[in-house]
Amino acid sequence: MMRRAEKRDLAEVLAIERASFDDPWSGEAFLAFMENPAVRFTVADEGGVLGYVIYSLICGEAEVYNIAVAPSARRRGLGRLLLDEALREAEAAFLDVRAGNFPAAMLYKSRGFKEIGLRKKYYDNGEDAIEMEWRK
Ligand SMILES: CC(C)(COP(=O)(O)OP(=O)(O)OC[C@H]1O[C@@H](n2cnc3c(N)ncnc32)[C@H](O)[C@@H]1OP(=O)(O)O)[C@@H](O)C(=O)NCCC(=O)NCCS
Repeated sequence: MMRRAEKRDLAEVLAIERASFDDPWSGEAFLAFMENPAVRFTVADEGGVLGYVIYSLICGEAEVYNIAVAPSARRRGLGRLLLDEALREAEAAFLDVRAGNFPAAMLYKSRGFKEIGLRKKYYDNGEDAIEMEWRK
């Protein structure tokens, strides 16, 4: 089930984050997002947290800040369900993806996101960010 993240989820969320990214967010960063009323932080819970999405929705525009699925639970449709949660009430959505992140780019394209820009050397390791946009 999809539900709002709670503080007790932090350890599981951090484990997924660390398994998913070379430059993972800190626990403090996740807590700040949990406490930010402008941000929606949803977890996929199947007797344990298997993934999460963090996004904002302002005037029908969603911005996706983070999305990840536990490595052992990938390619079962959870990433798409989490992304759909962020798009559900949106008219438009925006996000950045690392130029080399093929699985994520494929997920976004499968939902109709289009590339709209490139932020050169956006990440600490010098990797470019691709800006993507979705319209309902
Ligand atoms: C990106 C991520 C969230 C996808 O989660 P997932 O649960 O595996 O995705 P889904 O099973 O819902 O896949 C949906 C679609 O995305 C695409 N996709 C996902 N993973 C893919 C891969 N490894 N290769 C190619 N296409 C892929 C496919 O089109 C897939 O549809 P299909 O299975 O019917 O072919 C997951 O790979 C992940 O957590 N990666 C690490 C974190 C990350 O990079 N987050 C994004 C930051 S911008």
